[in-house]
Amino acid sequence: MAILTILTYPDARLHKFAAPVTEFDADLKKLVDDMAQTMYAAPGVGLAATQVDVHKRVIVIDTSETHDDLVVLVNPRILKANGRHVYEEGCLSVPGIYEEVERAEHIDFEAEDVAGNTIRRSATGLLAVCVQHEMDHLKGKVFVEYLSRLKQTRIRAKFEKEARKKAA
Ligand code: NI
Repeated sequence: MAILTILTYPDARLHKFAAPVTEFDADLKKLVDDMAQTMYAAPGVGLAATQVDVHKRVIVIDTSETHDDLVVLVNPRILKANGRHVYEEGCLSVPGIYEEVERAEHIDFEAEDVAGNTIRRSATGLLAVCVQHEMDHLKGKVFVEYLSRLKQTRIRAKFEKEARKKAA
């Protein structure tokens, strides 16, 4: 296993659109293992392949406090969404920024597991937030894009300044 480098906002590669997974092979298994290790090491509760510059529809999530409930979603799709719920979100690609985002409160979703078996689940609360947040990454969307233009400009300026400092 390996710890992968997580792209930081506003990296343009975070806005790429992920392609569906068609091969459920050893490479996919390795990607999932590396993504899980990267997420736990960060530490975070979710990671999309887009964030490690792999543009395939793969997500890992673990919302447990004990880090022993890994959810792997390949080619995830939401079947049903209802209710609205505001939650303060963060993102490993936007470190240190926490902002409220409104999303569906309850979702039914389907995905393949790492072996290609279809799984179907329902979620509310933090898991529902995470699935929606990570699925946004797969379409090139970062959670700060839900915020006001003023907030987005401030956040972008903060990270661009830090990147310049690092490069200097
Ligand atoms: Ni994120």
